[in-house]
Order: sequence, then structure tokens, then C-alpha cells
Amino acid sequence: MKRMALPIVLACLVMSIPAGAEAQSFSKEQIETGAELFAINCSPCHGAHMQDPGAAFNLRKFPADQHERFVTAVTRGKNQMPPWGDFFKPEQLEALWAYVVAGER
Ligand code: HEC
Repeated sequence: MKRMALPIVLACLVMSIPAGAEAQSFSKEQIETGAELFAINCSPCHGAHMQDPGAAFNLRKFPADQHERFVTAVTRGKNQMPPWGDFFKPEQLEALWAYVVAGER
């Protein structure tokens, strides 16, 4: 039984890498812009550098292949998460996305 464990763990690790995640590439500027927007608007709830999110969602664990879900959550809100509507310009939303997906991982 014990000898079987390692290959299974390895297989799970390989399968858990989201398809297409490595296809996304972000510029350094985009990630930096996202980091600034995050620090001002999101860190009070989600934690500085997405650490210690407290009761809010741990954004370091947000699935990198769910861009739609990210945009919907930010613009429409979710439970205690406020809806931002059109507060962010599309390129600012993309910068936030870049930061969440690539900024601290
Ligand atoms: C007032 C506190 C607060 C602020 C400010 C805030 N959030 Fe949230 N956010 C939350 C909470 C609480 C949740 C968990 C919602 C739930 O699942 O019930 C959440 C969830 C999320 C989720 C996950 C939604 C899902 O699909 O599960 C994303 C993505 C997110 N926030 C992004 C952001 C971004 C980006 C910002 C800054 C623009 C931000 N949040 C600002 C409180 C906040």
C-alpha cells in the first residue's frame, strides 16, 4: 500500500496544474499596476500581498483558469465582497487579474 502512494500523489500533482494557465503571460508593468490597485482597493479585506485574508477569499488560491469568474466577482460582488461595477477600467481589471494570477506565485 505504502509503495503505491508516491505515484498517485505525483499523478494528482500533474493533473492539478490548470490547463492553459502557462499560456497566460503578463508584462511586468501590468503586474505592478495590479499590485498598486490591489494594495489600495483590495488589501483591506484580502490582506497585504494576498496574505492573511481573514474572512475573505484567499486570492492566492484563486484558480488561474477562471478569468470569467474573477471578472464577475469583482464587477458584481459576492456576499460580503462589494460589487465594483465599472469602477475599474477594463485594463485595470486585467492588471488586477495579472497580479492575482502571477504577482505573488
Ligand atoms: C469589504 C471587503 C472586500 C474588499 C474591499 C474586496 N473583497 Fe474580494 N471578497 C471579499 C469576501 C468576504 C469574499 C468572499 C465572498 C464569498 O465567497 O462569500 C471575497 C471574494 C473575492 C473573490 C472570489 C469570488 C469567488 O468567485 O469565489 C475574488 C476574485 C475577489 N474577492 C477579488 C477582489 C478584488 C480584486 C478586490 C479589489 C478590487 C476585492 N476582492 C476587494 C471581501 C472583499
